[in-house]
Amino acid sequence: MSFCRSLISGVSGVNMWPMDWNIFVTRRIPPAALELLRRQAGRVDVFDEEFPMDHAQLVAAARDRDGIMVMGNDRVDAAVLAASPRLKAVSNYSVGYDNIDVAEATRRKIIVTNTPGVLSEAVADLTWALLLAAVRHVVVADRFVRSGQWKGWAPTQLLGADVAGKTLGIVGAGRIGAAVARRATGFSMKIIYTARQDKPDMRALGATRVSFGEILRQSDFICVHVPLTSETRHLFDETAFRKMKPTAWFINVARGAVHDEAALVRALREHWIAGAGLDVYENEPRVAPDLLELPNVVLLPHIGSATVETRERMALMAAENLLAILRGDKCQNAVNPCAISI
Ligand code: DGY
Repeated sequence: MSFCRSLISGVSGVNMWPMDWNIFVTRRIPPAALELLRRQAGRVDVFDEEFPMDHAQLVAAARDRDGIMVMGNDRVDAAVLAASPRLKAVSNYSVGYDNIDVAEATRRKIIVTNTPGVLSEAVADLTWALLLAAVRHVVVADRFVRSGQWKGWAPTQLLGADVAGKTLGIVGAGRIGAAVARRATGFSMKIIYTARQDKPDMRALGATRVSFGEILRQSDFICVHVPLTSETRHLFDETAFRKMKPTAWFINVARGAVHDEAALVRALREHWIAGAGLDVYENEPRVAPDLLELPNVVLLPHIGSATVETRERMALMAAENLLAILRGDKCQNAVNPCAISI
């Protein structure tokens, strides 16, 4: 573990002089965002590592801070929020914020922010990479070639399924779901989606809003793009997987706990569905050992937003969010703006 402390002096940025803010960043982030923070805050400490600190360290590191920037896999619970009586802002370097006890933050008048929009295209790209990799056995085929087993072209070798013309079910038609749908039009797919209300951008793509039951019944591919909430936890349970077509594929790049991992293992092993592509897991970074054994699932290490450009945009947005709250400005990415008015 290493902490890198930056005591700032000099004139730059919006403020004439850095303000007397004490900020902690829980991970190594792209340098542009750190520079932005350092130009404007009196003190910026960083846990300059790739992987998270443990929870007790996080509580200790949050002490006496005005703002903290946290990652989607930092658990920001009541203990972290109580660590500094001065804490005004928790900036999540992530669009999902199920890692943060937002109700407790609101009670303490702490604003929580996230990074919507800037990662939608990257996550949509990865959704398609995962879908195509799974359905065309790309990972198995790569291993097949590398292991020297390939003896030449054969008519029935490593057969996948067509994507073009099939039905894509999008569960959660927010920005990412819409970006996935846009790409699907290039595959001439029938697109159906679930959402609380009709989405004009989805209608413009020829997509139809249907019930969750219809998504399960009709889809050849189901892509999950809902946030993790008490309503979506285990949305895909044994009952849901049993309602899917035996030829259907399940793709989750949102949050692992939207599916019941044990039920998914059974669905894959007993061929209730054809296969899956996962970028997220119920108890990250733990992956159910049974999943590791199954050939009909492609497993990625939560890299949906992992492009150089996207991570930089997320970092800058997270830094700007944090500074806006500390300045007392309105921040459009606040997930609990009511925290200041209670
Ligand atoms: C997000 O932004 O929610 C990504 O999954 C990273 O946590």
